[in-house]
Amino acid sequence: MRRVGLGNYPLGVATVLSGIQPTAAPHLGNYLGALRWWVEFQDAHDAYYCVVDLHALTVAGDPAELTRATTTMATLLLAAGLDPGRCTLFVQSHVPEHAELAWLLECTASMGELARMTQFKDKAARGGEGSARVGLFAYPVLMAADILLYDANLVPVGDDQRQHLELTRVLAQRWNTRYGQTFTVPEAAIAPPGKGARIMDLQDPRRKMSKTAGSPAGTVFLLDDPKTVEHKLKRAVTDTDPPGPGAVRWDPEHKPGVSNLVELLAALTGRQPEEVASSYQSYGRLKSDTAQAVIATLEPVQKRYRELSEDPGVVRSVLATGAERAREVASRTLARARQAIGLLPRQG
Ligand code: AMP
Ligand code: TRP
Repeated sequence: MRRVGLGNYPLGVATVLSGIQPTAAPHLGNYLGALRWWVEFQDAHDAYYCVVDLHALTVAGDPAELTRATTTMATLLLAAGLDPGRCTLFVQSHVPEHAELAWLLECTASMGELARMTQFKDKAARGGEGSARVGLFAYPVLMAADILLYDANLVPVGDDQRQHLELTRVLAQRWNTRYGQTFTVPEAAIAPPGKGARIMDLQDPRRKMSKTAGSPAGTVFLLDDPKTVEHKLKRAVTDTDPPGPGAVRWDPEHKPGVSNLVELLAALTGRQPEEVASSYQSYGRLKSDTAQAVIATLEPVQKRYRELSEDPGVVRSVLATGAERAREVASRTLARARQAIGLLPRQG
């Protein structure tokens, strides 16, 4: 993913939007697949980032924990490098336009197209489809609303969100055709292969690293201390090939465990995975170097997180300003959408 020319947008002319759920602590997959690009994009473009607390309600959770996790996530985003002077950071539910536009879009989406979403199928299968929440089914439409409200051109996300982005494009195009030009049709900005778009679980490298569905031992959280990081990487599943020349290679299909470690190290150090792989013969050294690279990346983020946590007023005020700025843009787009679809304007 290059900063200039990505999706053919020269520096400074694109609007960027992305979101992350406050379901649990973010992990290395979130960081490499999404957050580090968010940080990079805030300099290049007009950037909006939100903690999507309404999306978190689509699965069971404890209310007090949601409140806590929302603040933690916002604090971590700042610690990871978002700068309120260069981007707009806000909490989704603080901008009620998101829920309202989601309803309008739900009235243009079909049951069939939502039922095809693999994330819904996966999550619903876990608890039985009949008991899945209606909100879980409508989840991608709310995500479309998040994106379309800001006329976003680019949406930096991990590979798992590709299908949701495609749906957003379909909904925007359908609306524009049916009700007249209203929304900008966005593009997904997904890192190229080998650059962290899909980091896998260290214990089960055929499954993506996940906040909720992964194994705790296979998930490196951004707030894990160095000992924990070392331990998790040391225990990472590789495969049964004996070590030696050629055993360390980037081959996600046949050697998912080793390839995941190689990709982690490559993404963290800005190198190509093939080049990283060729400099190792032993799994042990690959693991320990990867652990050191993870620790070096996380250390400044954790330090800043601790500093910010000492003064929660700072985060609160960033979010208040962010919501205000976001509402200005969102309310204009929503007014356009309400008018296009024929809702009687409010008087006075
Ligand atoms: P979520 O944790 O589902 O709210 O995801 C937040 C962002 O992180 C989204 O852009 C996801 O696509 C991205 N993401 C989640 N898991 C991974 C992973 N294992 N590898 C790369 N990116 C990921
Ligand atoms: N669905 C995304 C995820 O699980 C989170 C999300 C919600 C999002 N709204 C968004 C991502 C808007 C990008 C743009 O990762």
